[in-house]
Amino acid sequence: MKKKSKKEDVKLKFNSSWEYAPAPESKDHVKINSSYDLFINGKFTAPDSGKYFDTINPATETKIAKVADANEKDVDKAVKAARNAYDNVWSKMPAKERGKYIYRIARVMQERARELAVIESMDGGKAIRESRDIDIPLAAAHFFYYAGWADKIDYAVPGSKSRSLGVAGQIIPWNFPLLMAAWKIAPALAAGNTVVLKPAETTPLTALKLAEIIQEADLPPGVVNIITGAGATGAALVNHPGIDKIAFTGSTDVGKIIQKSIAGTGKKYTLELGGKAANIIFEDAAIDQAVEGIVNGIFFNQGHVCCAGSRLFVQESVMDTVVRKLKDRMETLIVGDPLDKNTDIGAINSKEQLGKIKQYLKIGVNEGGEMYQSSCALPSKGFWCRPTLFTNVSQSSRIVTEEIFGPVLGIQSFRTVEEAIEKANNIPYGLSGGVWTDKGSKIFKVTSQLRAGVIWANTYNKFDPTSPFGGYKESGVGREGGLHGLMPYLELV
Ligand code: NAI
Ligand code: MG
Repeated sequence: MKKKSKKEDVKLKFNSSWEYAPAPESKDHVKINSSYDLFINGKFTAPDSGKYFDTINPATETKIAKVADANEKDVDKAVKAARNAYDNVWSKMPAKERGKYIYRIARVMQERARELAVIESMDGGKAIRESRDIDIPLAAAHFFYYAGWADKIDYAVPGSKSRSLGVAGQIIPWNFPLLMAAWKIAPALAAGNTVVLKPAETTPLTALKLAEIIQEADLPPGVVNIITGAGATGAALVNHPGIDKIAFTGSTDVGKIIQKSIAGTGKKYTLELGGKAANIIFEDAAIDQAVEGIVNGIFFNQGHVCCAGSRLFVQESVMDTVVRKLKDRMETLIVGDPLDKNTDIGAINSKEQLGKIKQYLKIGVNEGGEMYQSSCALPSKGFWCRPTLFTNVSQSSRIVTEEIFGPVLGIQSFRTVEEAIEKANNIPYGLSGGVWTDKGSKIFKVTSQLRAGVIWANTYNKFDPTSPFGGYKESGVGREGGLHGLMPYLELV
């Protein structure tokens, strides 16, 4: 009873006075075809399979377009086009000329940024504020950054010579569709490789728009090929003998399948897999700032983030304050139309993903966790999940150890720095983490002992093309971004 009245109190304080009028981003400038073929050898080509599948808008459950479903023959065609372009054009082209093409892609992306942002939000469900301010500018920034490397590769590895690998097969997920395409394609091209990229089946549209941009930039045919399809198409790409390197971002389960299937083939690989990041709040942290960081860490992009701060550790003395402030803040978050500029939390990417999240909410409650969700209204159609937190969870709770990939936070307390580090590291994943404190010495202690590839201090979910990203343990192999992200596309000779 006591809890309920507190919640109503919060509602009164925020909801009644924080109503915003709808501010939808216009779709008028966006052109989406009703059907998309495969982008092979510089042209949109009908699939050999003759099959297409629908991509839907997860906020409305309506079909946006149908998209080709590539089979093994289609994959073979794409790989051959990439090989031909590699042997005859791209590997022979002076590096500074390669760089010019990559710059051109970056510029066209910037020119078409608004269109790309709207399509990203329609196809994947993410809030327009994020696709507009984060996904698309960062994707262009990656092309700009790696364009700069193209003619400086010899300086990247002082004292030795390097060469490109050949054809890269690249498979990406649905949480940052265009950004992941940029993370994969830009370094591959800068290093002199050609590419066959497969976007995720629920979010293929911005990759297909990127194919149009690549045509507009006049990239030689076959240097980038984009083929759509689901897991079977991805597996055909992984197993194709003409591939020299696999770059994959997605689930740890599929990462393991890929690693097994290419063992002994000599194919190089990088895998960016799951995560379960610890966000650690010390009692001396700026608490309001930390609360914003927690919100950004787990509710950003509906929690569809491999580096999401999904495990929160709060020092015991400030636990009640942090949880109270967090609940207050959650109450003000706007869940709804991804195209509305006020929206904080958009739609869950797919029915399957929403099913998985709901399953975890049940597991959390059944295991004795205390669940709190904000009280916002949800649209009647589409896939939605209220921002959710669990208290009364332990190190062995499944919602604390398994990747949920949704806006669900598990909160635990700690007393000492050592305890926080031990708890944070006690997990098969090691992709990222966060630390909030006023003391520089604590930041150094925690960051040097957390087994995670990326750790933010007094901020969260900040990305930059110059900065390497990747995991320890089951979070993957290799790094993307920065010079580190260029090296997996090169071989020292
Ligand atoms: P997934 O790993 O199945 O999909 C990622 C990509 O891999 C997609 O393009 C998919 O078509 C492709 N793929 C699927 N099976 C394949 C195979 N056998 N060989 C080659 N490619 C294959 O991920 P899914 O099923 O969409 O999401 C399930 C869970 O995975 C999520 O709930 C989340 O926990 C995790 N995930 C992690 C991501 C990350 O960024 N680390 C991204 C997406 C999902
Ligand atoms: Mg879709």
